[in-house]
Amino acid sequence: MELWIQNAKLVDETGEWFADLLIRDGKIAAVGQGLAAGGEALDAAGLTVMPAFVDLHCHFRDPGYLQKEDIETGCRAAAKGGYTAVNLMANTNPVCSSMETVRYVREKAQKLGLVEVHQCVSVTEGFDGKTVSHLQALDETVKLISEDGKGVMSNHVMAQAMKIAKEKGLTVLSHAEDMEISPYDYRLAENIATIQHVHLAQSLGARLHLCHVSTVEAMQEVIRAKICKAPVTCEVTPHHLWFYDTDYRVNPPIRTKKDRDYLIWAIENGYVDAIATDHAPHTPEDKKNGAPGLVGLETAFGVCYTILVREHGLSLAALSRLLSAGPARILGLKKGRLQPGYDADLVLVDESREWTVRAAEFASKGRNTPFEGVHLQGKVVRTIKGGKTTYQE
Ligand code: DOR
Ligand code: ZN
Ligand code: ZN
Repeated sequence: MELWIQNAKLVDETGEWFADLLIRDGKIAAVGQGLAAGGEALDAAGLTVMPAFVDLHCHFRDPGYLQKEDIETGCRAAAKGGYTAVNLMANTNPVCSSMETVRYVREKAQKLGLVEVHQCVSVTEGFDGKTVSHLQALDETVKLISEDGKGVMSNHVMAQAMKIAKEKGLTVLSHAEDMEISPYDYRLAENIATIQHVHLAQSLGARLHLCHVSTVEAMQEVIRAKICKAPVTCEVTPHHLWFYDTDYRVNPPIRTKKDRDYLIWAIENGYVDAIATDHAPHTPEDKKNGAPGLVGLETAFGVCYTILVREHGLSLAALSRLLSAGPARILGLKKGRLQPGYDADLVLVDESREWTVRAAEFASKGRNTPFEGVHLQGKVVRTIKGGKTTYQE
C-alpha cells in the first residue's frame, strides 16, 4: 500500500522544506522532489505536513471511570488533536500496578487501531506509597512508571523505585508535589519535590522525567540538572504556557506571569524536552465539586501554535521537536521525523486557519476546558497513522 503526499510544506525538528513524501507499508519510504511513485495521491497544497504528535501525559480513565473518558473516546480525541501515540497515567481504578491492567488497556486500544497507546505503571503498588516490588514483574514493553495525581512522599521509597527503574531501563515520571505542603503552598510543594527527585536521580543515575513543570524555581532546578548532565528531562503543558493568574482548578495550579514567561524562555533556549497535555477529563459534576484538571488533546496544537509560533516567534520546527521528536525519544519510538525509515505517522495542519474552541464539539467525553470560546490559529485537518487516516476534518 502506497500513499504519495504532494505539494505540501514539510516541517520536522530539523527544519522546513518543500518536497513530496512517499509512504509504503506504514513507513516513510522516500522524501524528495519528483519522486516516481504510484499508489494513492494526496494533494496537500496549502497545508503543512508534520510528524504526528506524541503525548507523554494523558488520563483516559479506563478502567474505572468510564463516565469521564474511555479508551475509545480518548483515542478519538487524540487522533482529532493530531496525535498517533499517547502515554496513559496509572490513576485508574484499579490503579495500574500490574501487567494484567497494562494488557487490558493495550488490547482495547489495539483493537481500535487509532493511536499507539503506552501505559504507565504506578511507582508504588496501588499508590500505597510504600511497595515497589511489583516493578520487578514488569516486562520490557513497559517503559515509564508514574504516580501521577499524587506525589511519592518518601525519598527512600522513590530511591528504591529508581534503583529498580535503572536496572530495568525504565524512566520515572515525577508529578512533583509534596502532598503535606501543597494544601497550603503548592509552589513550595512543587519546588521541593522537584529538587528532591532531581537529586535522587542524579545521585542514583536513574532516568527522571519531570511532568508539567510550572514554576520558575522548578524549571531552574531542571536546567541545573541538565547543565550537570544528569539524566533528567521535562515537559510543560499548553495550559501553563497560555494562562497565568487565573484560578481554573488544575494540578499544578496556573501560576503567575513571571512563571509563564520563564517557561517560554526555557522553551526558546532548548531546555524543554516535550509539551504534554495532561489531558484530564472529568464529569461536569466532579468538576463542580473541585476535581482538578482539563481536557487538552484537541486544543494543544492550536494553543501552542498561537502562543509560541504566532506570539513568540518560535519556529514551527522547534514546536515539532516539542510535540513529536522530543516525546518520541523519551518513549523510545521511531517517530517524530519526516525521514525514510520512520513511522508514517503524520499530521496535516492548516497554519492560517483561525478557529474558536467549542467544548461541545470535542470527541473527548470531557467538557472541562478553560479554553472555551478562545480564538486560536492553526488547526489539525488530518491525522495519518502508519499510512492510514485516523482523523479527517
Ligand atoms: O490536574 C490534574 N488532574 N493533575 C493531576 O495530577 C491529576 C489529574 C487527574 O487525574 O485528574
Ligand atoms: Zn500530575
Ligand atoms: Zn496528569
